[in-house]
Amino acid sequence: MTRRAVVVGTGHYLPKRVVENAEFEATLDTSDEWIRSRSGIERRHFAAEGETTSDMAAKAATRALADAGLTADDVDAIVVATSTPDLTFPSAATMVQSKLGMTRGFAFDVQAVCAGFVYALSNASALIASGQANRVMVIGAETFSRIMDWTDRSTCVLFGDGAGALLLEGQELAGTNKDRGILSTDLNSDGRYKDLLYVDGGVSTQSTGHLRMQGNQVFRHAVEKLASTANTALDRAGLSADDVDWIVPHQANIRIIQGTAKKMGLSMDNVVVTVQDHGNTSAASIPLALSVGKERGQIKEGDLIVTEAIGGGLAWGAVVLRW
Ligand code: ACO
Repeated sequence: MTRRAVVVGTGHYLPKRVVENAEFEATLDTSDEWIRSRSGIERRHFAAEGETTSDMAAKAATRALADAGLTADDVDAIVVATSTPDLTFPSAATMVQSKLGMTRGFAFDVQAVCAGFVYALSNASALIASGQANRVMVIGAETFSRIMDWTDRSTCVLFGDGAGALLLEGQELAGTNKDRGILSTDLNSDGRYKDLLYVDGGVSTQSTGHLRMQGNQVFRHAVEKLASTANTALDRAGLSADDVDWIVPHQANIRIIQGTAKKMGLSMDNVVVTVQDHGNTSAASIPLALSVGKERGQIKEGDLIVTEAIGGGLAWGAVVLRW
């Protein structure tokens, strides 16, 4: 028998304000056609003034609890993947804990930029496997609109805000790859590439800063590293791409998503795609896509899912789970 982290609830939240590509044409030398053809993005949501990462995270978590038929009292830990917390400290996770009215357990943030949700899932799975927590709320939540340089057309059209949450529960299962739950993970980073994607500010440099990206360089790394980490994680679970029902990738660019699926020998019919409606929501993009994919009726109990992501660091990784 093996203790697995099984998904028992999902939820997501998108801020009300929807910004279509065409809106950028008024202030930037860009076009709906360029953004669509280069990235696959058609629109994105931006948080309202005063709306924070923990506000959105708490809403997504509340929906995941409702989906599971549980309350905050049933949760032992909260892990929030974010690079855009409300404050330097306390963690966004403790703010979510307070907003959910949860007075027990523990909460912390994970920061691995766009790979953050994969890192958070891996941590939560280890907490459950080791018996340190039984139910863990894993949330990806971001307000990247706050770190955009609105004069930089090569980045500001690509990102959006939102939050998604999965509630994981420890269950004693057979210990085979037919089990539900997280079956394997693979995490990587390589700080030599730190200058390809970063924010040019932070606490110890006493500024907030703006996102800077050499998009075409990141692109070059993305397809190869994503296919490789996904295959490594599958291999660790004793599975192959042929066993996969759904790839649920980080939603940065449709061309990266298509390239990765092709490299893995999978059709786009096996990929959950939300990038057209959400843009790149960094650590929120995978839980948003999982929650939306379930709502659409794409993801069903028993399906084998591979999530994979790459972002600033570079940091990248994959998680194989059976829904
Ligand atoms: N509108 C019109 N033209 C533009 C725009 C725009 N919004 N942005 C850039 N251009 C121009 C460039 O200036 C350049 O012009 P030039 O040839 O005259 O110099 C031209 O378009 C081509 O630029 P590229 O950057 O080479 O375009 P590319 O096809 O690579 O697409 C993109 C750019 C969409 C950013 C792509 O490279 C990409 O998606 N990269 C990966 C992003 C990613 O996955 N990031 C990781 C996760 S994010 C995270 O961790 C926070």
